[in-house]
Amino acid sequence: MSGPIKILIGLRDWVDARFPLMRIWNEHLAKYYAPKNFNFWYFFGAFALLVLGIQVITGIWLTMNYKPSAEEAFASVEYIMRDTEWGWLIRYMHSTGASAFFIVIYLHMFRALLYGSYKKPRELLWLSGMALYLLLMGEAFFGYLLPWGQMSYWGAQVIISLFGALPIIGDDLSLWIRGDFVVSDVTLNRFFSLHVIAFPLLILGLVGFHILALHEVGSNNPDGIEIKNNKDEKGVPLDGIPFHPYYTVKDLMGAAVFLIFFFAVVFFAPEMKVPGTQGLFLESANFIQANPLQTPEHIAPVWYFTPFYAILRAVPSQLGGVIAMGLAVNLFLLLPWLDRSPVRSSRYRGRNYRVALTLFVISFLSLGWLGLQVVTPLYTWLARFFSVVYFSFFLLMPFYTAYDKDKAVPDRVTD
Ligand code: HEM
Repeated sequence: MSGPIKILIGLRDWVDARFPLMRIWNEHLAKYYAPKNFNFWYFFGAFALLVLGIQVITGIWLTMNYKPSAEEAFASVEYIMRDTEWGWLIRYMHSTGASAFFIVIYLHMFRALLYGSYKKPRELLWLSGMALYLLLMGEAFFGYLLPWGQMSYWGAQVIISLFGALPIIGDDLSLWIRGDFVVSDVTLNRFFSLHVIAFPLLILGLVGFHILALHEVGSNNPDGIEIKNNKDEKGVPLDGIPFHPYYTVKDLMGAAVFLIFFFAVVFFAPEMKVPGTQGLFLESANFIQANPLQTPEHIAPVWYFTPFYAILRAVPSQLGGVIAMGLAVNLFLLLPWLDRSPVRSSRYRGRNYRVALTLFVISFLSLGWLGLQVVTPLYTWLARFFSVVYFSFFLLMPFYTAYDKDKAVPDRVTD
């Protein structure tokens, strides 16, 4: 053994005698047996970790030059973009990272719907995922106010005033969130503190919880069967392979491909100006400083909120809209209990669930598109139609899953 390796091993043993280093390494990597049939959909948890890392690091560097005050915020972002070395790269990585996070998370959640990963015994894992999703929504909402552009300002104004629709407490609640009668410097300061400290801490802590909960019950897989039910004489699952090195290498390769796409957007299309939009990732109105006296012509939230925004606008009463929107986000929490099928993976489920899932995806995407459009009577009716499809997926689930003609599930993984 060469000198430097010997020193490293010595150091490792020194730490290991004082801290469960090797135990953690073995339990969570080298001897964590993951199903051998993971496919494309199993990349997204690792990608979510990668994007989280990108957001934390670029966020720290942005904060070094950002000024959280209504007077200076907009100019400080321009300063970062034009005068700070590599500032444009850091800022575009952070703004692209926000959208990338939601793309990855939506695909990560879709995988769970595809393979029934929320079902017993993974309910707590699913609930921790949902808590992460809600925190991410808050994190993105707070962050969007910080550049203090027109869309930051008016978007926040619209969303916070929605709380005003709640009976009795509504007005006081929105006043409490804003800290002022209008969105102001006070609001910017508190959103800054929530965005850079409170929510990142909660998110990081909860990601730890999420991974621990996953490793306690073990990963699901595209066949939706428990690999723990088939073990060899040493107690190793027959259909499992050590996470490290097999999946660490696979995830690293996936990360490289992901980063190619990510940086293609950062370098060539950071605003994501898709025709018919003002920019999906960075809206043009946000390149104009916030002006409390001038409302922009068309206020729309960023794309990842638009399915819920479309539901809000589809309901005629404001209170009804707010309740429908809240329900639309939170119904996911109930999935483990709404789904009555004994089968996890859609590979072996009957037609009911497959059709319902397809209709749900179509309604989610359509609502997302409708939420970006200026309201017209036709679009409002379409949004109502797709809202009904969206809610039916959840509310009718106990019935169509209980009477589904599921297929026989194999004992061992198939690929
Ligand atoms: C910061 C956000 C998140 C991070 C960093 C994260 C990370 C991970 C990782 C690394 C895995 C294991 C690899 C994989 O199965 O892809 C995983 C599994 C899982 N996550 Fe997440 N996750 C996040 C958010 C969510 C959300 C929002 C949900 C759902 C609401 C969710 C539900 C699940 C489920 C059900 C599994 C197990 C899947 C299976 O074994 O089939 N996660 N997560």
